[in-house]
Amino acid sequence: MSAFEPVLLRRAAVERGTELEVYERTGGYQALRKAIGALTPQQVMDEVSAANLRGRGGAGFPTGRKWSFLPKDAPLKYLAVNADESEPGTFNNRVLIDADPHLVIEGILLCCYAVGISEAYIYIRGENVQGARLLERAIAEARAKGYVGKRILRSGFSCQVHVFRGAGAYICGEETALLESIEGRRPQPRSRPPFPAVVGLFGKPTVINNVATLASVTDIVDRGADWFKSIGPATAPGTMLYCMSGHVRRPGVYERPMGTPLRELIEEHAGGIRDGKRLGFVIPGAAASTALVESEIDVAMDYDALREIGTELGAGGIIVMDESVCILKTLERFAKFFRHESCGKCVPCREGTVWQHRLLERLNTGLGGASDVATLKSISEQMNAKTLCALGSFAAAPQLGALRKFPEHFAAHAAGGCPLKVPAHA
Ligand SMILES: Cc1cc2nc3c(=O)[nH]c(=O)nc-3n(C[C@H](O)[C@H](O)[C@H](O)COP(=O)(O)O)c2cc1C
Ligand code: SF4
Repeated sequence: MSAFEPVLLRRAAVERGTELEVYERTGGYQALRKAIGALTPQQVMDEVSAANLRGRGGAGFPTGRKWSFLPKDAPLKYLAVNADESEPGTFNNRVLIDADPHLVIEGILLCCYAVGISEAYIYIRGENVQGARLLERAIAEARAKGYVGKRILRSGFSCQVHVFRGAGAYICGEETALLESIEGRRPQPRSRPPFPAVVGLFGKPTVINNVATLASVTDIVDRGADWFKSIGPATAPGTMLYCMSGHVRRPGVYERPMGTPLRELIEEHAGGIRDGKRLGFVIPGAAASTALVESEIDVAMDYDALREIGTELGAGGIIVMDESVCILKTLERFAKFFRHESCGKCVPCREGTVWQHRLLERLNTGLGGASDVATLKSISEQMNAKTLCALGSFAAAPQLGALRKFPEHFAAHAAGGCPLKVPAHA
């Protein structure tokens, strides 16, 4: 295993690492001091752009470019911090907040300084009570020491940071549904344009970034873009918080350079497949991604390398299944999730997710036939890229990918057979 120093989780094992005193003692709030004391907002934005930081919330959109879309002269702008994290197999935001809430807050303040924002809302999933409390306590500590509030560090920069406890649904993490939720409405996505960078929270220009994206900003400002780019691939530098779950010996969150091979994550860090079994398949980017088989796990875990082989990194939720698990059973579980979480605003997703779930139930109970497989394919194709938000495409992706890659499993189910009698390793 190569020598690697964690960046985002470096205080995870530090005693009282969530407290301001320890944070300051270990270099905390230096980046904010540096920015306010020596850098213009534009210089901070340029450094983040030069670092080529890509958003960790799933799409991998360049953060500096996103910030640059906001009108410079707008008198009121907002930051919405996405800590909703509700996809199965994804839990790195929670671990990051639990380990180092001040790192997140410092990243938030740096974003606000760069973009000219004076108010930030951290939208955290309602069930994550501990995370909300830690953040609230950290904000109170930071406010008492002059890092949050009016005239931060006696400069002209003022910024308030609030914790907003979410409504406890996957759709609340979709950026415009999140804004609706903060505004007190039912969390349903907005149609775009206008985009949030122009008309966002309370009708004002708004940045929406994931917790891990913003936490990464702190060290970019502190150590510079060149240091950041020395980690991971040039197209997506920095570290990634990979969430390992399923049939591995050591499930958990592993911070590694972006682009770490999937095989290394499974076999070295997560300890390999448990109970002496062989690998069946891996879901590399949580519920919305296409499963990979053993012959594909040397892939680098970054946005582009995974897209090249027809799947997604998402927010880094890696679900490992051993050879005893049938892919159709996993697909049925995902379909049930998406059916439950569809907000119902648009027809292909509202109706399609119900059909997907019912068809997979039929195929898994031996009641289905070849026409059910064909209907599943046709419905999933009609959902893909034809909905108001990406949830419809997310629900379609694992189904379409599996139909392409595991046709023999579908054929066995369509014939009423047991999937586990089909070779698990393509
Ligand atoms: C259904 C749905 C759920 C989402 N959930 C989250 C989430 O929990 N956290 C998150 O950061 N992004 C989530 N996203 C992506 C956000 O819409 C948005 O792209 C992201 O927060 C942008 O942050 P980033 O640029 O830092 O990645 C979700 C998207 C969709 C369509
Ligand atoms: S795709 Fe689904 S979740 Fe998204 S707006 Fe349409 S119905 Fe709602």
